[in-house]
Amino acid sequence: MTKEKILVTAALPYANGPIHLGHLSGAYLPADIYVRYQRLKGSDVIFICGSDEHGVPITITADKEHVKPQEIIDRYHSQNKAAFEKFGMSFDNYSRTSLPIHHETGKDFFLKYYSMGILNEKKSMQFFDNKARMFLPDRYVEGTCPNCGYEEARSDECENCGALYQPNELKNPKSKITGETPVLKETSHWYFPLGKYQKRLEEYVNAMNEKFGWKENVLQYCRGWFKDGLEDRAVTRDLDWGIKVPIDSAEGKVLYVWFEAVLGYISSAKELSQKLNRKNLWKEYWHDEKTKYVAFIGKDNVVFHCIIFPAMLMAWNDGSSERYVLPQNVPANEFLNFEGKKFSKSRNWGIDVADFLNIFPGDPLRYTLAANLPETRDTDFYWKEFQLRNNSELADILGNFINRTLTFVHKNFDAKIPPKGELEKIDSEMLNLISEYPSKISELFETYKIRDGVLEIMNLARAGNKYFNDSEPWKTLKSDKEKCATTLHVCLQAIYTLAELISPVLPFSSEKIFKMLNAEKTGWNECAKENLKTGHELRQPEIIFPKIEDEIIEKQMENLNNNETALEKPQEENVSIDDFMKIKLKVAEVIHAEKLEKSEKLLKLKVKLDDGERQVIAGIAKYYAPEEIVGKKIVMVANLKPAKLMGQESNGMILAVEDENNKLNVLSVGNSVKVGTRVR
Ligand code: 2FM
Ligand code: ZN
Repeated sequence: MTKEKILVTAALPYANGPIHLGHLSGAYLPADIYVRYQRLKGSDVIFICGSDEHGVPITITADKEHVKPQEIIDRYHSQNKAAFEKFGMSFDNYSRTSLPIHHETGKDFFLKYYSMGILNEKKSMQFFDNKARMFLPDRYVEGTCPNCGYEEARSDECENCGALYQPNELKNPKSKITGETPVLKETSHWYFPLGKYQKRLEEYVNAMNEKFGWKENVLQYCRGWFKDGLEDRAVTRDLDWGIKVPIDSAEGKVLYVWFEAVLGYISSAKELSQKLNRKNLWKEYWHDEKTKYVAFIGKDNVVFHCIIFPAMLMAWNDGSSERYVLPQNVPANEFLNFEGKKFSKSRNWGIDVADFLNIFPGDPLRYTLAANLPETRDTDFYWKEFQLRNNSELADILGNFINRTLTFVHKNFDAKIPPKGELEKIDSEMLNLISEYPSKISELFETYKIRDGVLEIMNLARAGNKYFNDSEPWKTLKSDKEKCATTLHVCLQAIYTLAELISPVLPFSSEKIFKMLNAEKTGWNECAKENLKTGHELRQPEIIFPKIEDEIIEKQMENLNNNETALEKPQEENVSIDDFMKIKLKVAEVIHAEKLEKSEKLLKLKVKLDDGERQVIAGIAKYYAPEEIVGKKIVMVANLKPAKLMGQESNGMILAVEDENNKLNVLSVGNSVKVGTRVR
């Protein structure tokens, strides 16, 4: 029998910033758990992803930084790829939409539709920003709504009153990129006739749901779109960053980023084929109607994956004998928020994946996110919950069960699997429970209830602890060694099963457990059998899940709040040279210094300037003894408004810098520089 082929894709993240925990919860972690589980089941699965490297936001980031878009995508592609690896994502390929293989794929699809005559060319008036020299996408134009007067309305619709209008009706339009008033200019674009596919799409969604059970939230989104009615969608844009539209009359136009990004799933599979030197590998998945294609995404991507992409594939299939499979399921998640608020890069709210894993490496993040996946509603990441899940679940339940069992066996059974004696009810019940687990978890994972699956696996560890406690091996060790051996034998089988079942969720820790068991995985369906034979020798146990101390968590919470407050302050503007010159920085000589009574921090200095002597109070007493500073030629702000510190007049400010040991170093200049010289 040939194995079921499974194609799993995870949304291609934009290479326009670092991925955060919300991305992981939305699509990547559930996809990775699902794929790792399928691999253990022995399914023939490929797991595809990559960076989405086109679109206007990337060009805007590049402009802001005065660099080329290529630099932005190179930076974030490698950063995100590395962060995914550190997080344990097991993609078979992580590609990039800037690669030639992807550009060709995008062009192929456009040309196929073009030659089939299904694309409509339409003229329209669109806002053009003369300063940025570009047509502005709707969300980059803001103005006053012609209907209700709302001042932050978009170019074609008002968020406030819901009115839809033509761009020329918007009052006071402003470009959000340059702040300039944009002009309306005629342009023409190619449109994909999505409306014509509505009936087929509805049938497709209903059929897939009936057969494979789509998630309720996903169905709701689809039904909403169907109810509003599908309309033609422009598949080209006026932009110079992206895949050039492959026809002569389309100078200066590229394929709309969403039109081609979804095709990245195909080009990434093609790239995998090349890397593996198996030219047709991608076709074995994409062109086999029996392939089970599952697309993992976050809720904001539903329309593209459940409606637009399937319509694009239907259109291709109408015109080709090489037919693509459509998604069989799109288990989109809702959003993860961070400590009660949306993740926000601009407000610095949240934490990058790489930063997180530098502080807390390994699986605790995977576990916390998996136990709280936003599968049916938005959920939150809380630092305190992270600590609690690590300490009270990973460490106290799973870690403790493993550790107490292994140390007991090392101490009392010479590190060898003890023999199973006669079974009592409690032992048979535990063995039965273990044997039910693989199919129990399968049912949940197969239906994308990943969170429930993860929590259920933890219940097996709970049951293991209870079994250990109830069996009281520390007592039977003396009173009934055979019974004690049986208890430990059963506990070890439970640990083996746990190590395998949890491995899709905690791949790094699972590996450590197998190492301590001195054993290998047997595959999902076999893992609840008695795989550890009596007499088999174990390796030295180690603590797999160290606890996380309060202070470390509090530090993170503090950082988060500080970062946010810092960003709430108005952004610093550049100063003009005139502004700078208003500050008189001058060289002065310290001619006298003494400690200020009742102050550990302050020194009272007398300094000489070109216009005479004056007193300055400086916060350097911790770093300089009075005699060390006398005679130095230092730099000071000479025209600072006089102030009183601890009752003493201070007339100026000494400049200093902190070194890496937090020591303040007064800025000083060589003796040849004259007192009163301006510093510029
Ligand atoms: O939302 C996003 O991050 C998009 N870059 C996802 C694209 S998924 C697919 F189309 F490639
Ligand atoms: Zn309005």
